[in-house]
Amino acid sequence: MQIENIENQDLVNRLHKFGQSHVLQFWNELESVQKNKLIKQLESFDFELIEKLTGLAAIQSPWEKLAQNAEVPPAITLDQQTAGEAPYQRARATGTAALAAGKVGMILVAGGQGTRLGFDHPKGMFPIGPVSERSLYQMHFEQVLGRSRQFGVQIPLYVMTSPPTHDETTQFLTDHQFFGMDPADVKIFCQGVMPAVDKEGKLLLETKSRVFVSPDGHGGTLEALARSGCLEDANTRGIEHLFYGQVDNPLIQTCDPALVGYHLNSDSEMTSQVVRKTDWSQKVGNVVSINGKVQIIEYSDLPEKYAKQTTADGALKLWAGSIAVHLFKLEFLNHSLGQAGSLPFHLANKKVPYLDASGKQVKPDTPNAIKFERFIFDLLPLAKNAIVCEVKAEDGFCAVKNAPPAKTETPQHVKKAISDLHTRWLLAIGAKVAPKVMIEINPMFAADVESLENKIPAGTEISETTYFQ
Ligand code: UD1
Repeated sequence: MQIENIENQDLVNRLHKFGQSHVLQFWNELESVQKNKLIKQLESFDFELIEKLTGLAAIQSPWEKLAQNAEVPPAITLDQQTAGEAPYQRARATGTAALAAGKVGMILVAGGQGTRLGFDHPKGMFPIGPVSERSLYQMHFEQVLGRSRQFGVQIPLYVMTSPPTHDETTQFLTDHQFFGMDPADVKIFCQGVMPAVDKEGKLLLETKSRVFVSPDGHGGTLEALARSGCLEDANTRGIEHLFYGQVDNPLIQTCDPALVGYHLNSDSEMTSQVVRKTDWSQKVGNVVSINGKVQIIEYSDLPEKYAKQTTADGALKLWAGSIAVHLFKLEFLNHSLGQAGSLPFHLANKKVPYLDASGKQVKPDTPNAIKFERFIFDLLPLAKNAIVCEVKAEDGFCAVKNAPPAKTETPQHVKKAISDLHTRWLLAIGAKVAPKVMIEINPMFAADVESLENKIPAGTEISETTYFQ
């Protein structure tokens, strides 16, 4: 086909060289604005990389070999965290001191599109408060604010969006005045994208003038933090550690002083919070140690026979499930920046609608495309003294991922988990809660069970659904 009016001949040659000329097949039908957009998009692609990654799809996954050597990682398990005992109290004191000195900031990743949830907005906008119907964003912002008040500091919050979620998120947060946070303490930054390819390595056209791309995974967080000036901002503020969590988990124990303390007392450059897996097939990353390096093997990558291994007492050997809550030493992130580009890409087979040669949209029933993503947790093996710290799932992990009628991780499950957790806090301080009432505690009222003690007298009776704010 004759390509008319195209200035960048070098690009045309590159497309030809990499077997991607089909992306210009509708060129002669496009308006000039569309032509410019398509050229700009194509110029942003690294064709060598795409070709290299496509080649990897044909190679046997490296996970089998890694999984053979996977051992249990160094861990602070629940039985080492008894509230009244010295190690816990020491950790809580160390963490409290670091938080009160303003050394801890927070990263919230919110680049996902909530496709599985069937929600047509950024996932962070999803209403999840069991009584208040607060959005996930509001819950996270208020958790940061609650901790800031608790420790008398202003904890900065770095929110990572992606091109599909950025504008709507920014608008939503601005419209809600950042849920009470000082705008100077909130930085919204956007991650990058990667094109997907079909089984032959060809790019897919989403429209006649746009190649299909999707967020490049949260592995791009570090580069995006640097590009956006957020890393510099954290350094300038004197932040020494960044707490990291995903927007889909409203139970995150945001900047938990004990977790910060365990991380500091172990001189760890990266600490991951984990739950004990209840089932070998649970969809959480597996935190393991391979040749002395802590590493996560994603649930989709761990071969079944290794996931099913048990110890002599019948418990799962690879027990540590990642809840995607991490603590990074900022110095480690600064040093790792040069290596972030070399984090491995993970390949996933997905269904991606595309235009066929006649310009008709095809919606595939089975996976037709390979998506490429990098994961932030692949920084773990580079970190010195990396450890994992166990948390009870009911206290720190219940992510909203699926729409009903799914059996797990639906909004109903998560709302109940929040209410159950806050009910347990009330019971722990000696209050009485009638059966079946829903409870929600705003972190500005109390950020954790310890702070609740000063707010509600023991013996208080709660007989109806209540939102403490
Ligand atoms: C993820 C973790 C898994 C962990 C589980 C806990 C990965 C690859 N896996 O699985 O190890 O056990 O959460 O809930 O992360 N996101 C971005 N940008 C992206 C992709 C995702 O910001 O490009 C954010 C999403 O907004 C979401 C989070 O990352 O908050 C998780 O993404 P999702 O694809 O739902 O991961 P899971 O498969 O649930």
